[in-house]
Amino acid sequence: MKTNTTSIHALRDGSTIRCRPLRASDRSKLLDGFEHLSPDSRYRRFFSPTPRLTPSMLKRLFDLDGHDRFAVGAERLRMGWLGGAGLGVARFIRLPDSRNTAEIAVSIVDEVQGQGLGTILMYELAAAARDHGITRFVAWVQPDNEPMKALIAKLDPLAHAHHEDGLLFFDFAVPGAIALPSAKVPVRRTGPLDGFVGWCADGLRQLLPSLPGGAFGRT
Ligand SMILES: CC(C)(COP(=O)(O)OP(=O)(O)OC[C@H]1O[C@@H](n2cnc3c(N)ncnc32)[C@H](O)[C@@H]1OP(=O)(O)O)[C@@H](O)C(=O)NCCC(=O)NCCS
Repeated sequence: MKTNTTSIHALRDGSTIRCRPLRASDRSKLLDGFEHLSPDSRYRRFFSPTPRLTPSMLKRLFDLDGHDRFAVGAERLRMGWLGGAGLGVARFIRLPDSRNTAEIAVSIVDEVQGQGLGTILMYELAAAARDHGITRFVAWVQPDNEPMKALIAKLDPLAHAHHEDGLLFFDFAVPGAIALPSAKVPVRRTGPLDGFVGWCADGLRQLLPSLPGGAFGRT
């Protein structure tokens, strides 16, 4: 998705939804969507019991610049063009120390989970990320979050994860992007380009373990 465009999709149940960049006027839609997340979904998204979105959380969720911080939302489409209830949001925040990498988070209201919307939003997010030079995504995921693990595996079958502080830390290629080797894949240094490739991989390897406690989940 270009960061200023919209797209229309059908979910598995045949209903129609529209994806578009999240904007400041979506505040009440996002708050309403939050009310349709179960306690489990909230925990999986925010990593703590989250009975409500505080003003500071809302401020962060809408602190978007379309370049380093971008969110795409999905809403029901009524009568072919009218935007209805908010159904989900996927977002990225570029890492300050690794400009081609962004941390992602996604949430879908419970009654629509399993209908393909998480996949749709992640592909839209990936298109926007590619437009802004982001080639790798990282994500904190609870170890028992099977839908999210399956979604990441669909996006990048070579995604890898390691355990950190009781969570899984995933590192995977943005779909459709030409990416540097992942930070955990050993780089063989035998060819003419290997010096450069090895240097990049070494840089990422040094940066990733020291990522600040998560731009979304754990803060
Ligand atoms: C994780 C989440 C975003 C997935 O969104 P979704 O719309 O349900 O995902 P999709 O329908 O596109 O399904 C994606 C894949 O997940 C897997 N999946 C979906 N539901 C599943 C379930 N209940 N159990 C196991 N795997 C499941 C499937 O492999 C599916 O791909 P497929 O249908 O092509 O086989 C959604 O469940 C959610 O919002 N959870 C709460 C918040 C959260 O966990 N966020 C992630 C932390 S950042």
